Formats: sequence, structure tokens, C-alpha cells
Amino acid sequence: MEISVTLTQNYKQKPQGADIPFGVYTTDHMFLMNYSTDKGWHDARIVPYAPFQMDPACMVLHYAQEIFEGMKAYRDAEGKIRLFRPEENFKRMNNSCERMSIPAVDVDFCVKATKQLVELEKDWVPSAPNTSLYIRPFIFATDNHIGVHASHTYQFAIILSPVGPYYATGLAPVSIMIEEEDVRAVRGGTGFTKCGGNYAASLRAGERAEQKGFSQVLWLDGVEQKYIEEVGSMNVLFKINGTIVTPALNGSILPGITRKSLLQILRDKGYKVEERRISVDELISAAKDGSLEEAWGSGTAAVVSPIGSLYFKGETYEVSGGKIGPVTQELYDTLTGIQWGKIADPYGWSQVVC
Ligand code: COI
Repeated sequence: MEISVTLTQNYKQKPQGADIPFGVYTTDHMFLMNYSTDKGWHDARIVPYAPFQMDPACMVLHYAQEIFEGMKAYRDAEGKIRLFRPEENFKRMNNSCERMSIPAVDVDFCVKATKQLVELEKDWVPSAPNTSLYIRPFIFATDNHIGVHASHTYQFAIILSPVGPYYATGLAPVSIMIEEEDVRAVRGGTGFTKCGGNYAASLRAGERAEQKGFSQVLWLDGVEQKYIEEVGSMNVLFKINGTIVTPALNGSILPGITRKSLLQILRDKGYKVEERRISVDELISAAKDGSLEEAWGSGTAAVVSPIGSLYFKGETYEVSGGKIGPVTQELYDTLTGIQWGKIADPYGWSQVVC
């Protein structure tokens, strides 16, 4: 499929420096394509960034048939622009599509479209340390119909946003409350997808945690509320007694690309890694007896986010002395080193776009 290009007449002001707030700015252009039952995915185009026009009966507004992805473009020391494992994002997008009855996309074509858009917007990729261009592909249902069924038409879009660190506090360890009331996902549900509904369902607990002075919540499973699943909008990893432990992918946990990359790096560095069920009781016992050495979240947006304390049933348990632990720091340095092209990439994960 050919990608047509229409350039904007109104170029925007770009943010300067390192303090770029996450998710505020968008670039001059976006990529769009549409789906209809008779034509399949068609009309691939790069156009000036602009609002969508929507009928009030547009199905996504009512039934949330929508999925998205998140990845980044990085500017390396030579000024070249790099992507990190973009195929993985579009493969995961298709897993999300399948669960949400949305037609699949062509992975290679979407990577090509992403690269073409990023190349056009290359001046928007910031160069200050810890900045990047966040890439947000998404698909939503566009039939104008009040009845509940899968849409027959869809909008695919990729927008770009220059960003600094996800948390304004950067790599400072965060305080986490173990959530005992709300759950973000259930067995057989949509937890493994990147659908907006998962994030909507997580907002109340996040708000309540913030009101109590915590940064985010640690999610327990939706069936027994006994096993650890994720932290905030990230995967979660622990170092317990020298072993790296993370919840096994069970259908209600997002298969994070950062998670997968960190596990590979850890195994290759010789760490013992276990993907298994971790009960909250096991975690709290480890926190009590000192064998919980480190804990951190992992995701595209924050890369790694060290956990400085855990709150559960009226008690606060400090992790790693409230500081970033050595393994967490090593992982941050290694993964961001590969992403920004600062260190050798033995995996071929970092791809130069232009
Ligand atoms: C990520 O860590 O990449 C996320 O999922 C957060 C994103 C929704 C902003």
C-alpha cells in the first residue's frame, strides 16, 4: 500500500531543553489509515495533525472498542534516530486486536509507516538526556451505531509526542500501596491487551492511592486477590534472595516489551530469573525478613521505576533502603544504553531509521 503525504501549512513551536512534560506536545503530522469490510485497511496517509470529527453515535464512545501501543524514537550521540523493537509493538497490537474483535494490521507495513512518519518528524526527536519521541499507534471503532456489536469500520492512527521522563521525579523511588479493593483485570478478560478500558478501570485506585500520598498501586489478581500482577500501568519485578522474580504472563498481565527485554538482559548477565506466581503473603514475608532486596516497575514510558516502599494493611515496608537498587540501576543503564545507541546492542533491538 502506498502512503500519500500532505504537508502542514502551520508548523508548531517545538519544546526546548530537557524538561519536556510527558504527553503534552504533539508533532506537525500524523499517520492515518482506515478499515472497511469491503476494502480492508486502505487510504494510508500522512497528513497534518488535526482533530478527528466524530458522530455522537460513534461506537468507540459507547463500547470502548479501542486498542493502542506505545514505543519511542531516540536520538543517539551522532544525531541518528533509532527505534526499539517496533515489530514487537505491532505484533502485540494484533494480539490486542484479536481479543477486541478488531481486524489485524500488517506488522511490516505498520513498521514502515512508523519509520516514514518518524523520519518526516525527525526534528521533533529531542536531544537532551532522557528525552525521546513517544510514538502512539491506536485503532478505534468508527461505525455510528448504538447497538452492541463489533464495528465494521475502524480508524488507525499514529501520533507522536516529544517527551522527557514519564515521572517528573525521574528515577526517584516511588511509594506503592497494595490495592485490596479494585482489580484491573480478570481471567478471560482483556488484561493482556493494551485496550483503553484496562486503563479506565485502573484510574479510581490510582486516584485513591494518590490521595493517601502514594504514587501508584500494586495490583493483585482479579480472582483471588492474592497474587501480584502489575504496578500502576507497568509490569513489576522483584529481587528476592538474589533471584529475580516476576509474575508469569497469565492472560491478565500485559506482555511488556520492556519486561521481555529486561528478562533477556538479566538472564544473559547470569541472574537467576523466575516467571511465576508471587503471592502478596510471600512478598510481605520477604519484605519483613529482609530478603526482598529490590523492586521496580518496567514499561516503555518510564523504562524502569524503582519502588522505594510498599504499604499493606496499615504497615509500610521500605525496599532497598528507599533508594534505587544496584540491579535496577544496572538494568536502566543497560536498556537505555541500547535504546540511545550508547552501548553495543548484541540483540539487534535498536534500529537506525535515519
Ligand atoms: C508504558 O509504560 O509504556 C505505559 O503503558 C504507560 C503509557 C500508557 C503512558
